[in-house]
Amino acid sequence: MKEIFSRRSIRKFTEEPVSDAHLEKLLRAAMNAPSACNEQPWEFIVLKNRDTFKQIRTFQRFSAPLDTAALAIVVCGDTTRQKFDGFWVQDCSAATQNLLLEAEHLGLGAVWMGLHPIKHWTDKMKALLNLPEQIMPLGIIALGHPAARVEPADRYLPERIHFEKW
Ligand SMILES: Cc1cc2nc3c(=O)[nH]c(=O)nc-3n(C[C@H](O)[C@H](O)[C@H](O)COP(=O)(O)O)c2cc1C
Repeated sequence: MKEIFSRRSIRKFTEEPVSDAHLEKLLRAAMNAPSACNEQPWEFIVLKNRDTFKQIRTFQRFSAPLDTAALAIVVCGDTTRQKFDGFWVQDCSAATQNLLLEAEHLGLGAVWMGLHPIKHWTDKMKALLNLPEQIMPLGIIALGHPAARVEPADRYLPERIHFEKW
């Protein structure tokens, strides 16, 4: 799948908006991710308000991509929708990666910006977005049309592969 190998984090975007049709495709891809016991514990908060972006910039110090992003999606997990504690993180990470790959497929740019497990950041995000107690923000995806291309990276390391035992 070529998108796995061409995708890079994009942190600067043009002023072109992301269409609603593309937004739906991104969210459909995210929600098609695998999840533990097929619980699908994800919730997505779509942000376009630049004041909200500015507020996030005050506490998540690696969120500069929001300065030019057309929109952002906060990927959250509902901690009450899991059979085994803690799997919401993997589930929502799989959804995030699906969304990033769909963005690449659509010619959009995106970057995953972490929140969980930095409690200070998740507390601030919960307060900012009025999230209910059981809804945990995993991360923010900044999205838009890329202002510049980032070259693909080859990270294949055969020495990291172990057969049968370490
Ligand atoms: C859990 C996680 C948190 C990240 N947080 C940030 C972030 O806060 N700000 C940022 O600019 N990039 C962030 N990134 C993107 C990484 O820096 C990036 O994926 C990594 O440098 C590899 O580059 P690539 O995505 O272009 O392949 C994060 C990525 C992950 C998976």
